[in-house]
Amino acid sequence: MKSIDISQSGNETLAKIAEFFRQRSGLKIAGRDWHKFHEAIAERMLLLKISNIHTYYQKLLFPLGGGSDEFLQLTALVINPESYFFRDAPYLSALRDIILPRLIESCRPSRQLRIWSAGCSTGEEAYSIAILLSALLPLKEHWQVMIVGTDICEESIAKALRGIYKESSLRDLSEAERHSYFTKNSNNEWLLREKYRTMVKFQQGNLVEDQFPSTVTEFHDMDLIICRNVFIYFHPTAIYTSVTKLANTLKPGGIFIPGHGEVQAADFPSLKGELLPGVFLFKKCDDNKKS
Ligand SMILES: C[S@@+](CC[C@H](N)C(=O)[O-])C[C@H]1O[C@@H](n2cnc3c(N)ncnc32)[C@H](O)[C@@H]1O
Repeated sequence: MKSIDISQSGNETLAKIAEFFRQRSGLKIAGRDWHKFHEAIAERMLLLKISNIHTYYQKLLFPLGGGSDEFLQLTALVINPESYFFRDAPYLSALRDIILPRLIESCRPSRQLRIWSAGCSTGEEAYSIAILLSALLPLKEHWQVMIVGTDICEESIAKALRGIYKESSLRDLSEAERHSYFTKNSNNEWLLREKYRTMVKFQQGNLVEDQFPSTVTEFHDMDLIICRNVFIYFHPTAIYTSVTKLANTLKPGGIFIPGHGEVQAADFPSLKGELLPGVFLFKKCDDNKKS
């Protein structure tokens, strides 16, 4: 296949594209990421039959007509969508044995539970929570449980909605768990059982650009927000903006779980850190102050 070599293109325009991309996605392009970023731009230019980097920059800035925003098309090639079921065993144990049972106790009077997997990629994180909750809340028809997964990548969300996975997504599941949660289709892929698929809804969403909390959407008064392995790729400014909005989207007493070391407690006065075996989490303070 013919390819475009953008290494000779104006560095100034490439830097402008990276800055535009950072401002909209939060993702920083540093070190080895530059190679992947250049390849992604070259792939898009080839597909769009654009040979000039300045023309491509204009297309990013001013997407015309219908169709998908060029920014999202480029994003899909740059993100790392790595995810799998029951990722990080110590965190999963903390979720199953401590965090979810505590939340169930505190939400028992209202019997409502609102959970958001932000930056959910192809859905494994959100569905893992659905699987854990179904075991913990066998009579869940008496509860209103909302689990929502969002990701900037439209393609990942489409895959999450299908609920069909390859072996690599099930790498941490035992044989018994695989057959209990999935059925195998004729392509040797694993289809998540309907009872779990129907517990989760998914939609495209950008942590940096979207407005939340918002009472006209689902994104308010959350009991639990999980946003793991997302901020490691973010610029510090975007981490601050996104985590501030996520904190405001929690109920008082609600819980926020980022990945290990991805968020510094000192930057967020409305969140109080708590170390549990296997996970460091944040709790939304009742009075917007650390106690
Ligand atoms: C490595 S995956 C993590 C998936 C899952 N949370 C996990 O831990 O298995 C990172 C995800 O963050 C998403 N992401 C990156 N920037 C984002 C943004 N600005 N808004 C929402 N999602 C974003 C990517 O599309 C990608 O799917």
